[in-house]
Amino acid sequence: MTYLEQIDKAADYIRKACGAADVAVVLGSGLGDYAEQLKDGISVPYRDIPHFPVSTVEGHAGNWHAGTLHGKKVYLMQGRFHAYEGYSMQDVTMPIRVMARLGVKTLLLTNAAGGVNTEFPQGCLMLISDVMNFSGRNPLIGQNLKEFGPRFPDMTYALDPTLKDLARNTAKALDIPLQEGVYCWLTGPSYETPAEIRALRMLGADAVGMSTVPEIIVGRHCGMRVMGVSCITNMAAGILDQELDMYEVIETGRRVKHIFAKLVDGILKKL
Ligand code: HPA
Repeated sequence: MTYLEQIDKAADYIRKACGAADVAVVLGSGLGDYAEQLKDGISVPYRDIPHFPVSTVEGHAGNWHAGTLHGKKVYLMQGRFHAYEGYSMQDVTMPIRVMARLGVKTLLLTNAAGGVNTEFPQGCLMLISDVMNFSGRNPLIGQNLKEFGPRFPDMTYALDPTLKDLARNTAKALDIPLQEGVYCWLTGPSYETPAEIRALRMLGADAVGMSTVPEIIVGRHCGMRVMGVSCITNMAAGILDQELDMYEVIETGRRVKHIFAKLVDGILKKL
């Protein structure tokens, strides 16, 4: 079976189980509890979706939720797939292509990230203004899937300018502090070294993480409007005189989940 047929099988399953949606939100590490907002939603475990990968990481529950939030039909992905789990780029981005098949036009990506910008307070939220791909990988390598988009998709507006304005205005209206900056993708799973973080800072990164960029690239390839918000769960390596710990990442995510939920709610209301 081809990759495209697998995508269509997965999309058919979700369409039958949950119906279509216009908006999708990918919930990153420690932010998965936002799915509780869907009171009368339907949820399916990833393992039940044909050809779908399964989450292997703590803090990523592995459920596809669908329902109505603030008058909009939404999908919430509780957990995503990462290159460091051993998944191919095709697997990592399969959910985004499935969403495209299901009619999703607006994609809101969230993640936990390390703060490279020393001005950022730990636990703050950062609107992703732009990204850097330092992974050496790209999900569009290989035969172009022309059913989704062009061979050489433009990345000038990888993060949609109108959605950025919407996020800024929503944060301001709700009195939520929202930093803004460049997110840099490295594959992990080892955290970065202090030398790498110093180098990334010089190159213009404000945050670093192990996800999201493949989803942005594929979302844009599919013609979606994409927005991203990072939760700065820890200061990146070498900024503080202490080691990084994944439990800190998950814990910080949980600590700020209320403010995160308020921001996402506010954005969904105005979409
Ligand atoms: N580095 C990479 N990924 C991360 C970090 C980090 O410091 N924090 C959360 N995800």
